[in-house]
Amino acid sequence: MADAQDRPTAAELARVARAETAPNATRHGEVYLVGAGPGDPELLTLRALKLMERAEVVLYDNLVSDAVLNLIPSGVERIYVGKRRANHTLRQEEINQLLVREARAGKRVVRLKGGDPFMFGRGGEEIDTLAANGIPFEVVPGITAALGVAAYAGIPLTHRDHAQACLFVTGHMKDGSMDLDWGALARPRQTVVVYMGLLCLPVLCAKLIEHGQSPGLPAAVVQHGTAPTQRVVTGTLASLPELARRAELHGPTLIIIGEVVRLRERLNWFRPGETTPGTA
Ligand SMILES: C[S@@+](CC[C@H](N)C(=O)[O-])C[C@H]1O[C@@H](n2cnc3c(N)ncnc32)[C@H](O)[C@@H]1O
Repeated sequence: MADAQDRPTAAELARVARAETAPNATRHGEVYLVGAGPGDPELLTLRALKLMERAEVVLYDNLVSDAVLNLIPSGVERIYVGKRRANHTLRQEEINQLLVREARAGKRVVRLKGGDPFMFGRGGEEIDTLAANGIPFEVVPGITAALGVAAYAGIPLTHRDHAQACLFVTGHMKDGSMDLDWGALARPRQTVVVYMGLLCLPVLCAKLIEHGQSPGLPAAVVQHGTAPTQRVVTGTLASLPELARRAELHGPTLIIIGEVVRLRERLNWFRPGETTPGTA
């Protein structure tokens, strides 16, 4: 609960009200870098929802689900700055500069990003540009894909009997190869979560086996985690690439590797497309 000292005084409130209503007041804009979570709008934070409702302009990318976008009030300007592999709508530097321009125009800007803005989301680069330009900003964390997707797939990322550590890595390939610490990824009693890894799945599984993991180690690919269109394909390091190929999965997908994947057989609770209890 807020301490009385945290509350603005009557004099402060009056000063803010005067500043906001003064005819020629120069309003300085600000940017809120907001995590939109993995898809299910029920996973938004209260802070995210509040800021979306108060925004003057929202810049969003392709990972933000329609269900989340539908919560933005109709009068709020929306700008799609989506990014897909090899098909970037705006280059990162252009997005950074657009944020600066919108804030300099005096607007309350919400930069909405899928999952958490600091998790493989280039959020750090965006606020770095804001900081360099003297634009005030705030960061609102979101549920990153690994957490949301694992929860809705019934796969606990850690478990006392199976995994004492969990690694989050990106499978994004540079020049056709994956630059990962394979020795660290192939250690026992841990879970490995791979973002952006579908294309490299065969290489990923082969490398882990080459570095000592059992070909029988359970692994899963989850497509559209937390959404009504969620699909989960489970197998082993040896079988998953072919199973995923046959399933014709498409992004966004997340790969989870480790003994914990086996627990899904008992713990799978989410029925995509059905109403979640308490939300009807
Ligand atoms: C550029 S990264 C951004 C991650 C994001 N900042 C986060 O914290 O989740 C995009 C990758 O996140 C993963 N991802 C995001 N949402 C997902 C979802 N609903 N289901 C499966 N994977 C998802 C996919 O691997 C996708 O390629």
